[in-house]
Amino acid sequence: MTLRFLWLGLILLVQTQFSVPNLIPAPSLHKIPLTPNFQDKQFQGKWYVIGLAGNAVQKNQGDSNMYTTTYELNEDNSYNVTSTLLRGQNCDYWNRTFVSGSVWGQYTLGDIHRYPNIQSYTMQVIDTNYSEFAMLFFKKTSSNVEYFKTTLYGRNKELSSELEDRFVHFAKSLGLTDDHITFLTPIDQCIDD
Ligand SMILES: *[C@@H]1O[C@H](CO)[C@@H](O)[C@H](O)[C@H]1NC(C)=O
Ligand SMILES: *[C@@H]1O[C@H](CO)[C@@H](O)[C@H](O)[C@H]1NC(C)=O
Ligand SMILES: *[C@@H]1O[C@H](CO)[C@@H](O)[C@H](O)[C@H]1NC(C)=O
Repeated sequence: MTLRFLWLGLILLVQTQFSVPNLIPAPSLHKIPLTPNFQDKQFQGKWYVIGLAGNAVQKNQGDSNMYTTTYELNEDNSYNVTSTLLRGQNCDYWNRTFVSGSVWGQYTLGDIHRYPNIQSYTMQVIDTNYSEFAMLFFKKTSSNVEYFKTTLYGRNKELSSELEDRFVHFAKSLGLTDDHITFLTPIDQCIDD
């Protein structure tokens, strides 16, 4: 009996250690810049995801194809958000809603009950000039683990090296290292429509 419990305890211990990765801690939201006077109408439309950095992002691992995220504003100031990505030979779509939060320019995930593991999800726009680039910050708690990421968006598939450097600098200011910063490979399939 005791031995059985001991074994069970050992198995649980091993499982916990493997399933909870040693992640870089997520910064507190109020330390993240927020673009002043955010213009939600101007932010709408299609953005190419050019850079991606986060505590669960591994450079040179898995799929690094460029994808797009499109924002459509609803009358209640929420966005319908659609990401379009190439998966194998097919185009894949991922739809969700971002609801305007208590701070202007900050959004939370709509219909959060549809995602049983997600306890919280926040997005905010750090900086953008609407016509060329944007930098965003995302933080989510999923199965009690805090994940964060920052993305560099472009209206086109390429941005200046100055903007890329600014993005890397910002990612590092969040405690991320080069291993957690990746630039996506431009493709033509799916994302040009
Ligand atoms: C957002 O999505 C909802 C539900 O799919 C739809 O009814 C609505 O028309 C969409 N809004 C816009 C601006 O496309
Ligand atoms: C996702 O949104 C796009 C654009 O609004 C729409 O064409 C597509 O049918 C939606 N897909 C799903 C699975 O809801
Ligand atoms: C912002 O947008 C304008 C176009 O309206 C562009 O010419 C300018 O270089 C952009 N970039 C930055 C970093 O301000």
